[in-house]
Amino acid sequence: MTQAKPAEKLNKFEKFKAAKDGLAVKDELEQFVEMGWEAIDKTDLEHRLKWLGIFYRPVTPGKFMLRLRTPSGVLSSLQLRTLGEIIQRYGDDGSADITTRQNIQLRGLRFEDMTDILKKLTAVELTSVQSGMDNVRNITGSPVAGIDGAELIDTRELVQQVQDMITNKGQGNYDFTNLPRKFNIALEGGRDNSVHAEINDIAFVPAYKDEVLGFNVLVGGFFSAKRCASAISMNAWVPPNEDVVEICRSILTVFRDNGSRANRQKSRLMWLIDEWGMEKFRAEVEKSFDKPLTPAAETDEIDWDKRDHLGVHAQKQEGLSYVGFHVPVGRLDADAMLEFARLAEVYGQSEIRLTVEQNVILPHVKTETLETLLQEPIAARFPLEPTPLVRSLVSCTGAQFCNFALVETKQRALKIAQELDAQLDIPDRVRMHWTGCPNSCGQPQVADIGFLGTKARKDGKTIEAVDVYMGGTIGKDAKLGERVEKSVPCEDLIPYLKTVMMEKFGATPKA
Ligand code: HEM
Ligand code: SF4
Repeated sequence: MTQAKPAEKLNKFEKFKAAKDGLAVKDELEQFVEMGWEAIDKTDLEHRLKWLGIFYRPVTPGKFMLRLRTPSGVLSSLQLRTLGEIIQRYGDDGSADITTRQNIQLRGLRFEDMTDILKKLTAVELTSVQSGMDNVRNITGSPVAGIDGAELIDTRELVQQVQDMITNKGQGNYDFTNLPRKFNIALEGGRDNSVHAEINDIAFVPAYKDEVLGFNVLVGGFFSAKRCASAISMNAWVPPNEDVVEICRSILTVFRDNGSRANRQKSRLMWLIDEWGMEKFRAEVEKSFDKPLTPAAETDEIDWDKRDHLGVHAQKQEGLSYVGFHVPVGRLDADAMLEFARLAEVYGQSEIRLTVEQNVILPHVKTETLETLLQEPIAARFPLEPTPLVRSLVSCTGAQFCNFALVETKQRALKIAQELDAQLDIPDRVRMHWTGCPNSCGQPQVADIGFLGTKARKDGKTIEAVDVYMGGTIGKDAKLGERVEKSVPCEDLIPYLKTVMMEKFGATPKA
């Protein structure tokens, strides 16, 4: 038995979750659709529907966002085509975003079509269940799992098994639909920490223990408006088998039963680890795991700089390559999705991968057809070698669709990066991340330069501005960046960034 939490005052989210589990709306969806969204109870509409991945967007009332689950960012061409057809058929100005968790969010969907849309997802073995609010989010893995010559462990099947355990194979699983807070899990099988292990509540990184290859387990990484923490070792090593699934189940159970439900600013997993200390936390997980945990291997195998996978790369399979296409700030439309699906069938093996940099990889392209693929119009629209700042740009949704946003992000981020690329020669990649508010969905803390939306006063007017972060590093020994500047007006960003690029990143004005 886990120790009961001393009586604590539940926050308002806990109260509505206790009154009715979020997943309960699954059985009510048909009725909701008949009623029309305007008649749905406010808490069901604004919160519980997120247990099905359905997001009411106050910025665009009547046009809903649907967040999927795409484990490891792998999609079949049939799945991608289905998603493209959904936004083409049901979406009013439908579009889709690739997210920083290798996931897809569909936009512009009408509520009356939701039951049909979810049926279409099920028909191609996709699910959107438990993808929002206090649930385990899309589980990330290396986007080149199974095709990377330097890979240590192909994590795709394990990622799928962890998702299947948490969601009961996409049906929904009441065991894990009332966590104290959201929860992120990542499995890295390569050498370059492509998943940003450090920012996940549970991360598995490859490590040898007594010459057996498995994973060291890290826990507690998270971002929030008030605090950001890197994941730390829980002094446990697991072999790459069902123990991975079971340790996830154990950690989730301990978190579910003991995490704080009083203050939502203090309810992510790391707060429980802080409260208990690692020794007690590990002991409680071990009890739930029901067998002794193996202590962590002394070192892990993450020893590369993080790759971005753009361009053409040889696969470990002789004669095949993967091709990384740059999708500016992750925004896709139906045409692009249908075209990527077609190309995956013509040139590849009917498979598409998504990356946490919000880009698309087409794997399994035969070397002799590469040249023809690169002549396809898609390579002009989504270039293999974009200009340096655009190349590494990442952005959250921002004010176009998100009610939390204090600034517009995606289009502004792109325009600024393009303009700086046009004006400057920049010797190395500079990774810029944009996020529209302190929730930090766009992860400004992992960037070389991060921007976090805020408001400022200038000449007596309220204007859009950003706090600037610097110093985030990724790959081996990743570390989080810190805020270096407050409230830089967005309208002053180009001159501000020109100076930063020249002084800190060796940029020179273009001749
Ligand atoms: C209280 C804290 C947070 C709230 C209320 C929140 C809310 C939201 C909302 C409403 C969206 C959907 C916006 C849209 O696309 O229409 C979103 C997207 C997203 N959030 Fe959060 N979020 C929070 C914190 C975080 C954190 C800490 C992370 C992880 C770093 C995160 C990761 C994401 C991701 C990956 C997306 C998808 C869009 C993208 O790639 O930017 N969120 N969040
Ligand atoms: S960071 Fe803020 S603006 Fe951006 S998606 Fe998250 S909640 Fe919305």
